[in-house]
Amino acid sequence: MLGEGEFDKRVSEDGIEVWVTMMGPYLNMNTAFIDRAAGIVAIVDPFDASEWGSALSKEGLSPTHLLYTHTHRDHAAGYPGMVALYPELEVWGHVDARVPSLLSHMVFSEVSFTNEWSHAPGESVEWSAGGIRLSVTHTPGHAPGHVTLHGHDVFHAGDLLFTNGMGRVDLPGSDPQAQWDSIRRGKEILESLPGEWRMIPGHRYDWVDGSTPDWVSVAEALEHNYALNSPGMG
Ligand SMILES: [Fe+2]
Repeated sequence: MLGEGEFDKRVSEDGIEVWVTMMGPYLNMNTAFIDRAAGIVAIVDPFDASEWGSALSKEGLSPTHLLYTHTHRDHAAGYPGMVALYPELEVWGHVDARVPSLLSHMVFSEVSFTNEWSHAPGESVEWSAGGIRLSVTHTPGHAPGHVTLHGHDVFHAGDLLFTNGMGRVDLPGSDPQAQWDSIRRGKEILESLPGEWRMIPGHRYDWVDGSTPDWVSVAEALEHNYALNSPGMG
């Protein structure tokens, strides 16, 4: 299990680095995709700007892109610090995650996207920068405009899926029916991926055996995750 401030760093066969860490009191999991030769660092839902900044700067790197799974305040916690430190950042999210009418609810934070995805629920589009290639799937339900991202041996689930469960659907802006459609779509995608890929959840919660792993394999998630194995999933 990763300690506070610890980063798991791997290099996929195509040379893209994947860094995974856990940050903050809500146990948020963050993933970064790095093309060192091209100087590109794309971070999913960074929780703490200065922790990310110092870890990257030790290796001569700095963030270039932020990719948002959704705009709940814990996932967006690092946003103000990131744009203050790195004003040239590209900030990506789904257009439906812009929720001005929900910003009065404390679960949401404002994130100003510089670039938006606008694809329909269940659809996937490719996002690329340098040698980084990710499939971005629109998976609303837990939150409007929620997306998952997969590529380079990981499926970053955001709050669609945790290792053994799924995101809440009782929050302002949640849509339980949409969530089940998104879980079904997520399952299709996971079934199409190599079983040894890592499924990185939005939060590090308990696994079926009472342990608290940072991630599980795609095969393990498909076998044990209760949402993926709900009777309604078929
Ligand atoms: Fe969330």
